[in-house]
Amino acid sequence: MTAQPSDQPRIPADVYVPPGGPPQGAGPSREIYQQMGQDAIFRLCADFYAELEQSEIRPMFSADMPAASKKLAAFLVGLFGGPPLFQQLYGPPQMRARHLPFAIDEQARQVWLACFRRVLQDAESKYNFPAEHLPGFIAFLSSFSAWMVNRKRATNE
Ligand code: HEM
Repeated sequence: MTAQPSDQPRIPADVYVPPGGPPQGAGPSREIYQQMGQDAIFRLCADFYAELEQSEIRPMFSADMPAASKKLAAFLVGLFGGPPLFQQLYGPPQMRARHLPFAIDEQARQVWLACFRRVLQDAESKYNFPAEHLPGFIAFLSSFSAWMVNRKRATNE
């Protein structure tokens, strides 16, 4: 069956494809979920979105930040070795395609990462995040976020 044009995500004319391509490698440890549990992952994401709320990229996000934070939490639950919540609730992840409507340039990525780093500072005590897996998760965030960059320079922020 051939896909109809309407099945495709709308690709903006000025879209940028990072030369590095999709991230390679195993991703964060799948032992993380076992230690943190679902509630702590949702709390971490709520706190991350509270940081985004105060940041210069706030206008990119919808009014309902708690709802948006729950989508990220669902994604991380699966990534950390728990049930595939995101797929169950929202379908195929296709993260780059889902981010295309938002103009994400390198500057926006740096702000996003800085918010995440702040939240991860006390992650061991606050969310029971296993300390030995923090460097791997931070490395994952860095490479995966690079793949979310879709504009050379954003014009709609
Ligand atoms: C490069 C930095 C990034 C920026 C600026 C960014 C920005 C955004 C924005 C504006 C949304 C829409 C939120 C809303 O509905 O209000 C979103 C959704 C989302 N982001 Fe990101 N994002 C970035 C990187 C990432 C990364 C690295 C991940 C995964 C680890 C991720 C996971 C998600 C998920 C799961 C959603 C929900 C998708 C959906 O609508 O179904 N994002 N992001």
